[in-house]
Amino acid sequence: EKGGYASFMLKEIAEQPKAVADTLLGRVDGEGTLSLDEVRIPAAVLREVEKVVVVACGTAFHAGLIAKYAIEHWTRVPCEVELASEFRYRDPILDARTLVIAISQSGETMDTLMALRHAREQGAKVLAICNTNGSTIPRESDAVLYTHAGPEVAVASTKAFLTQLVACNLVALYLGQVRGTKWGDEIRAVVRELSHVPEQVGRVLETMEPVRELARSLSDKPTVLFLGRHVGYPVALEGALKLKELAYMHAEGFAAGELKHGPIALIEQDLPVVVVVPSPRGRSVLHGKIVSNIQEIRARGARTVVIAEEGDESVVPYADHLIRVPATPTLLQPLVATVPLQVFACELATARGNDVDQPRNLAKSVTVE
Ligand code: M6R
Repeated sequence: EKGGYASFMLKEIAEQPKAVADTLLGRVDGEGTLSLDEVRIPAAVLREVEKVVVVACGTAFHAGLIAKYAIEHWTRVPCEVELASEFRYRDPILDARTLVIAISQSGETMDTLMALRHAREQGAKVLAICNTNGSTIPRESDAVLYTHAGPEVAVASTKAFLTQLVACNLVALYLGQVRGTKWGDEIRAVVRELSHVPEQVGRVLETMEPVRELARSLSDKPTVLFLGRHVGYPVALEGALKLKELAYMHAEGFAAGELKHGPIALIEQDLPVVVVVPSPRGRSVLHGKIVSNIQEIRARGARTVVIAEEGDESVVPYADHLIRVPATPTLLQPLVATVPLQVFACELATARGNDVDQPRNLAKSVTVE
């Protein structure tokens, strides 16, 4: 069943190029047009949406954080992202012009289900992004966009996350398309870029040996920190979550701009810090700031593990370890930048003797609140 891999997790990491391709299949064409007829919410209703609220848990919540950047960028409609477990308890403001997006691999997560039930009771429309056909969350939603990752067995989500990112980008671009924003040409260009992602993820996977070696060398460290900005911030959170659940290590993700507001006090000699660097082309201001952050933490003794776009030479002097990912449009970078973090956590956990498919205390689908 594991197809020759030592774990389901390794198999599922390797399946990511296909999972992404399958999730794009039939939804994008070579011209850069999206067809999401399956989203049965009429275009007229989508044009009237005044607010988007994303609810999800765990890794799916991280996909939601990234969705916010894409939705607000392509539609200029305000988007909030909330942990499903917190959502209904604060009496959120919802009405018929609110589109709620519930993201869930399993489609059975009780917190997410309760959040969407609450949203529908208030008259909001709910679109599910889900990987499991016919599961409860899509059945109770107004519409569903399925991710086509195939069955995910390992408790730690990998290929489902990448396909959630694809789906979130598709929804954001589709909303932009149906609402007829002035970025029509840019939207078409990014849609065309999406079709390169499977090959780009495949290329990342081929270069993972140094990442595995690094992970093994860090297996006795007590803490690893992760930093990112913009869409790299949720990627940092996801890298930290993977390490917590698999390696049972203290790991934290921070927005790099917050360093000076507290977390920099944690930096000490030899502390591994993984930094996700945005493209120097897309968000050049942020790029410069994060390069300064890398310099700052390195000056304080941190061991820097830098994930940067191919061709970005500015980080070379400050990277103790450099992990290259293909150049993508800014909003698509999480699709390639997350992959090394999955491999890193899996290898580090294995080096610590942990069962990566069945981490202690965790269940694949959390059907209690
Ligand atoms: O099935 P769901 O996507 O609703 O699950 C949500 C979380 O429980 C899940 O992502 C969890 O955080 C994973 N174990 C992360 O790897």
